[in-house]
Amino acid sequence: MTAAPPASGELLAPHRALGRAERHRLRREARRVLFGNWTGNSTVPSRGLYPHQWSWDSAFIAIGLRHLSPVRAQRELETLFGAQWADGRMPHIVFDTGVPLDAYFPGPDFWQTSATAQAGPPRGLETSGIVQPPVHALAAWLVHQADPEASRRRGFLARLYPRLASWHRYLADRRDLGGHGLAAMVHPWEPGMDNSPCWDGPLARVEPVAADSFRRADLAHGTAADRPTDLDYGRYVRLAAEYRDHGYRDADAPHPFAVEDPSVNALLIVSERALARIAAATGADPAPHLARAEALTDALVKCLWNPEAGLFLCNDLRADAPVREFSVAGLVPLIVPGLPEEVAAALVRTAEGPHFGLGGTVRLAPSYALTGHAFDPSRYWRGPAWFNVNWLLERGLRQQGETGRADALRAEVLGAAVDSGFAEYLDPYTGEARGIRDFSWTAALALDLLASAEEGTTATSCTTAIPRETP
Ligand code: SER
Repeated sequence: MTAAPPASGELLAPHRALGRAERHRLRREARRVLFGNWTGNSTVPSRGLYPHQWSWDSAFIAIGLRHLSPVRAQRELETLFGAQWADGRMPHIVFDTGVPLDAYFPGPDFWQTSATAQAGPPRGLETSGIVQPPVHALAAWLVHQADPEASRRRGFLARLYPRLASWHRYLADRRDLGGHGLAAMVHPWEPGMDNSPCWDGPLARVEPVAADSFRRADLAHGTAADRPTDLDYGRYVRLAAEYRDHGYRDADAPHPFAVEDPSVNALLIVSERALARIAAATGADPAPHLARAEALTDALVKCLWNPEAGLFLCNDLRADAPVREFSVAGLVPLIVPGLPEEVAAALVRTAEGPHFGLGGTVRLAPSYALTGHAFDPSRYWRGPAWFNVNWLLERGLRQQGETGRADALRAEVLGAAVDSGFAEYLDPYTGEARGIRDFSWTAALALDLLASAEEGTTATSCTTAIPRETP
């Protein structure tokens, strides 16, 4: 650990709302980051550490980019969906083949998706073979709302709707590995919270490949103490290589790592509801999407809610047991409409209690419980606060009618984003920057919250006070 927590019970002074000059600076700097990371058709999460297009990053980026250029935000998602596989899967990375192979590991030469997968990416594209959380339909709907006229003129929703529907079908048909009606993730990179302590148990069963059989590129861009360990990487590589060697066929691959994650499934529910709106807007029938969202919500509560913990827990399908680690993934279902009242109330209590300290001992919600045995305020997903997760919690609190708490969290996120130089993640206690700076989704989601703060509404409406650029 690198930072001492404040003395027990000590509360932080809340971040005050940004003044006019600070808001101006945030806008200017966020625009610099997002336009600097734009490659012509999409946005890299960062120029150094992540020099390709990432799936859930692009969805979050589009949500912010819509305030600068709604058409560019549409293109961000269109580019991503251009790499969708024939089986409906959305790969977690779309590689820029102009970037040197050794700039990122594991690159296209490792995944070999164009060569080995039967149902692989479109010809001429190189991608990874695993997925990331399904934030895309939500992003598409929000992007559409930013400029419905331009969206209609370009046929944005009409073109994306069948692709989004086929992505959700892939998750329903190929990834319900537990038979519970939930999507399962088969690699720690899939839920997006790579080295969460939730995966320590399931990963312990995976034999790591030899440390000298691969070369990490990530350590060239930051502090090793902020990143996953070499042992983690040995296991990540083993799992990905096995999936690859089974042609990325879910029915044939052994999937020694298979988990149901509450955050992934909550995002799927919210995206399925967004898909219902997209269906209605394009003349299709929204009813099947709403029915599916309801069935997923029932399954989420039935299978992953833990009343004693006051939190949703991950489920380890190979151990056939819940993972008894408290991850912020368990709070993300706050974004789901129609949760049983007692579940929503318990989630708010847990968010503010000793494990997550929201509105009390921390600036932003940590990725893993402050009280957890594996808590580390600096190491990637083992404690640091992330901006996409806090954006989701802000939205979730608002969804549950907790407007005051949502406003307070929004002020903290905005202050932390600008103070940290749009850091990838933060020490949750001190707000000190960790990982890299000029991180795209931090800039994008700060812009989105700024727009909602300036409107005094949730960030779902069509107009923003931020001047736009032509794409
Ligand atoms: N997040 C992983 C990385 O650091 C993989 O997507 O590269």
